[in-house]
Amino acid sequence: MGRERAAAPSGGKAATAGGHSGAPGPGGHARAPAQGRLTARAIRVAYGDYLALDAVDITVPPGRITALVGPNGAGKSTLFHCLAGTLRPDAGHVILDGKDITRAPAHARTREGIARTFQQLAVFPSLTVEENVRIGAEQGATRDPHATDRALDLLELTPIRHARAAGLQTGTLRRVELARALAGGPRVLLLDEPAAGLDTREAGALARTLKALAADGMALLIVEHDLDLVVELADTAYAMSAGRITASGPAARVLADLQAAAS
Ligand SMILES: Nc1ncnc2c1ncn2[C@@H]1O[C@H](COP(=O)(O)OP(=O)(O)OP(=O)(O)O)[C@@H](O)[C@H]1O
Ligand SMILES: [Mg+2]
Repeated sequence: MGRERAAAPSGGKAATAGGHSGAPGPGGHARAPAQGRLTARAIRVAYGDYLALDAVDITVPPGRITALVGPNGAGKSTLFHCLAGTLRPDAGHVILDGKDITRAPAHARTREGIARTFQQLAVFPSLTVEENVRIGAEQGATRDPHATDRALDLLELTPIRHARAAGLQTGTLRRVELARALAGGPRVLLLDEPAAGLDTREAGALARTLKALAADGMALLIVEHDLDLVVELADTAYAMSAGRITASGPAARVLADLQAAAS
């Protein structure tokens, strides 16, 4: 089946995504959701003679938004692929809550509670909104029969659940993709440039949704070029350059140092 590719991702609009105590999370947890801590240690990836990642350490803790920033070619997506399971590092380890998942393929990590969205949209155009989101529920970590409904509600997609994805605008499709990731009840959510191409309103809605998910205990990693959004969103930032982590710490401090160095 073909996959739709669109250039401009969009965000969710659900300002009320969890965050209120006792409310079920997007995966339909009746109790407090299991928390996930994703860690990468001493990751090395070489493309032929070219060392794309060298001794990279990163921690993505629960209840926090962690950002990964850096110039084009720094290695951000390569690290993202190592975390998501679409690339196996040449050395180093990826650990989820103490369990070494370095050799686990992407689909197995999805079952373990790691969800991702794609920098380029990957929504099935011939399926409805609901069918697309249901795929996430079936592939993910939850067995909650209401997981699809909850995710549709969270991203305000219920009124158009029976619409075919092919006819929808990019901004809406981006919400479908996020709903699909959340329908699996993830503990860890990985987002590669989620705000690329969004207008101000959509980016604001996305930011509210992601903050609410973190407040609910989820571990989030965003790779993002929009540094204003990173400052607004992230608790911790890692700066990368030429395959190495060059700085890490509170997002405001890391970004201020980057901007000072660039001026
Ligand atoms: N499959 C590949 N084969 C060879 N080189 C690759 C491959 N994928 C990435 N690279 C190279 O590895 C380096 C890191 O690429 P990566 O895509 O991880 O960077 P990035 O930080 O995500 O950049 P961008 O901000 O442009 O998305 C780049 O020099 C890139 O050209
Ligand atoms: Mg990239």
